[in-house]
Amino acid sequence: MTRHLLDIASLSVDELRHILQLSTSHEVISAKPLANKGVALIFEKPSNRTRHSMEMAVVALGGHPVYTRGEEVGFDTRESVEDIARIMAGYHGVLAARVFSHSVVERMAAVSTVPVINMLSDVAHPLQALADVITMEECAGPISSLTVAWIGDYNNVARSLGEAVCKLGGTFTLGCPDGYSATTQEIARLQSFGGAVRQSSDPVEAIAGAHVVHTDTWISMGQEEESAARRVIFAPYCVDETLMAHASPNAKFMHCMPAHRGEEVSAEVFDGSASVVIQQGHHRLTAARGALAWVMGK
Ligand code: CP
Ligand code: NVA
Repeated sequence: MTRHLLDIASLSVDELRHILQLSTSHEVISAKPLANKGVALIFEKPSNRTRHSMEMAVVALGGHPVYTRGEEVGFDTRESVEDIARIMAGYHGVLAARVFSHSVVERMAAVSTVPVINMLSDVAHPLQALADVITMEECAGPISSLTVAWIGDYNNVARSLGEAVCKLGGTFTLGCPDGYSATTQEIARLQSFGGAVRQSSDPVEAIAGAHVVHTDTWISMGQEEESAARRVIFAPYCVDETLMAHASPNAKFMHCMPAHRGEEVSAEVFDGSASVVIQQGHHRLTAARGALAWVMGK
């Protein structure tokens, strides 16, 4: 059966661990699972980390990346999502897309004869969560021993991180303002994966005792019109040194980037000794190799 990677939730714990193991395997690089294959990288939104890590991971695994902007293929404007996916599946070994609506990657996967990878949608960012887990286990220990705090907007990055942390038996605590938090059903969904989840609208309560503190922009791509309102609502959720002081001693700070110093994180924390954001960003390449190798059947 074709393996797609649209979110972390759809992976079994064994599959998740297998992808993580492939990510750091030198044998996978030697095996060149993408030899003589193309990989379509379609972007409806801007990117630095995702584009570059995916392009270089494709090259490392022996394949040829073809970057395409969303407006060039025109999902449902120039032609249907299904027609695009069916045609591209004849040229490429993998189709990867960064999309506004998660339904686009689902529709691609429904008709594609080759694997589809979600490179960020409104719902999920699985490649980010894989890199986050690799980074956390490298610098803080096994996820099952960790409390991971998410401060700010319960968004695509938060959802994928929560799924990964819960599947690997960790504790996930959320500090999000009302209206931008996880619903009761969403918390139950995360808990059903096996981890412990707590939520508070008080960031101090959410961060208490955390071994890892993670945040993201208050204004995700596509939400620019809400910028002014969001900056007011999220102002008490800036991860600064005062807030970090409530986390566990030696807690690590993480951010998927791009970051906005003075908004979701202070410059002192982002550039400080607790921050592992560059290591985390570099692990996007590690994770991309594992994800590509796994969808290729490794
Ligand atoms: N974290 C992340 O996905 O970064 P880019 O938007 O630069 O790809
Ligand atoms: N939540 C952000 C992540 C960017 C990598 C967004 O969707 O824009």
